[in-house]
Amino acid sequence: MGVGVMSPFEIDHVINGFAETAKGAVAVGFDGIEIHGAHGYLINQFLSSYSNKRTDGYGGSVENRFRFAREVIRAVKTVMPEDRLLTFRISNWGIADMEVSLFESAEEWQQIIKLLSAEPIDIISISTYDFKAEAFGTGKTMAGLTREVTDLPLMLCGKIYDRKTTIEALQDADIALSGKSILLNPDWVEDVCQGRELPVYSSDEAGIAYTEEPLP
Ligand SMILES: Cc1cc2nc3c(=O)[nH]c(=O)nc-3n(C[C@H](O)[C@H](O)[C@H](O)COP(=O)(O)O)c2cc1C
Repeated sequence: MGVGVMSPFEIDHVINGFAETAKGAVAVGFDGIEIHGAHGYLINQFLSSYSNKRTDGYGGSVENRFRFAREVIRAVKTVMPEDRLLTFRISNWGIADMEVSLFESAEEWQQIIKLLSAEPIDIISISTYDFKAEAFGTGKTMAGLTREVTDLPLMLCGKIYDRKTTIEALQDADIALSGKSILLNPDWVEDVCQGRELPVYSSDEAGIAYTEEPLP
C-alpha cells in the first residue's frame, strides 16, 4: 500500500471508533443513529472508485469498495438496542468535488443500494442537491433509481423547501428532509404543514449557521 492508504490496523481502529461513538450516542439517549456514508467523507471515499484506488480487499469491485461500509454498519449495529433506528446516508456528490459524479452509473448506484439493503439498517437516507435532478442521464431521479431496487424506507433531501416540493419528494421517498431551510427557519415544519410561501435558500445564506459570532 502506498503513502496515505489506510492500513488494515487503521481500518479496524476507525471501525471501532464508529462503534464506540454509537455506544455514546445510545447511552445519552438518541433514538437513532445515522452512519454518514455520503458527501465524500471516509465511508463514501471507500465506496467511490473516484477516490478508492486500493488494490486489496477494500478496493476494486463494488463488493470490495462496499466492504468498509458493511463492517462499519455491522459494528455499529452490535451496540444498538433493538428499539433504536439505524440509518445510512449516501450521496453521489462530495463536498470537495461537488461537480464530480462519485458513482459511475445508475447500475453501480443500484448495486450499492442492493448491498446496503442486505445490511441491518432501517432506512436509507439519500442526499442530493436537488431531488428533482436527473441522475446518471437516465431521466430518473436518485430517489427513483433507489426505489427501484430496495424495499427499505427512504429519506430524501435536496431543495425540498415548501409544501409542494415536499409532496413531490414524497412520491419516491418516505421521509422528506431539509438542510438549508430548517437551518434558517425554525418554523419550517409548521410553515410547510400550513402551505406557506417559502424561499429557496442558497448554501451561502445557510452558511450563517457556522458563524462563530453570537447570532443577533
Ligand atoms: C450550511 C450547511 C451545512 C451543512 N452541514 C451538513 C452536515 O453537517 N452534515 C450533513 O450530512 N450535511 C450537511 N449539509 C448538507 C445538507 O444536509 C443537505 O444534504 C443539502 O444542504 C441539500 O439539502 P437542502 O436543499 O435541504 O439544504 C449542510 C448544508 C449546508 C448548506
